[in-house]
Amino acid sequence: MSDGLDALLDGQLAYYRARAPEYDEVYAERGFRHLTDLVERLPVSGDVLELACGTGQWTVRLAQRATHVTAVDGAPEMLDIARRRVEAAGLVATFEQADLFAWQPRRRYDTVFFAFWLSHVPPQRFAAFWATVARAVRPGGRVVFVDTDAAERDTERVVPGDRATVLRTLKDGSEHEIVKLFHDAGGLAAELGKLGWTAQVDPADGGFIRGVARLTDRSARD
Ligand SMILES: C[S@@+](CC[C@H](N)C(=O)[O-])C[C@H]1O[C@@H](n2cnc3c(N)ncnc32)[C@H](O)[C@@H]1O
Repeated sequence: MSDGLDALLDGQLAYYRARAPEYDEVYAERGFRHLTDLVERLPVSGDVLELACGTGQWTVRLAQRATHVTAVDGAPEMLDIARRRVEAAGLVATFEQADLFAWQPRRRYDTVFFAFWLSHVPPQRFAAFWATVARAVRPGGRVVFVDTDAAERDTERVVPGDRATVLRTLKDGSEHEIVKLFHDAGGLAAELGKLGWTAQVDPADGGFIRGVARLTDRSARD
């Protein structure tokens, strides 16, 4: 692809594959330590689809509330850790490895959930991603998401230019350029409104945002 977007997204997935063994360290940091408690205050229920599940930090919490969880991620290394975490908690989930920029749902779910994924979806893929999500939600179902707040931009090494990327370094010293958008709550709700969603996006304690979205006119989108 001429603008290099595919290569950037391949590199982003490669970064997370390499980061998998050290990924959970972030959940030991202040701010993240109790973050997954947020699930208790979010409208998560029924048959749940989790996109970009990572090491399963959220999958366990979702599985405690859902009738079933299907968790998708592109990194087999992440999925291995997630699978072990869910089993260790005595819970059950179905895991699937897929590239979310190509993946399509085979059925619909009551809740579609994603944490710290939307900020890695580039603007050029934003509408297509939400169209995929629309195909995964049952009539009356909800999309629930958690992500970093716009204010967190100052904590990252933002790459100058219009690619909406940051630089991250792994423990082996390797440096990776990945997509990172810093959505602010109001702007994101308005953007989703233009795509046919009714969304409530609010700041959550600790530099995060939480969002709940429903299709505004389901019949128009089926
Ligand atoms: C910031 S992590 C979030 C993980 C988890 N949701 C959490 O909050 O801890 C982003 C996740 O997206 C996954 N990912 C990156 N690119 C992907 C792609 N193209 N398709 C599917 N998953 C992808 C990574 O493997 C990683 O697990």
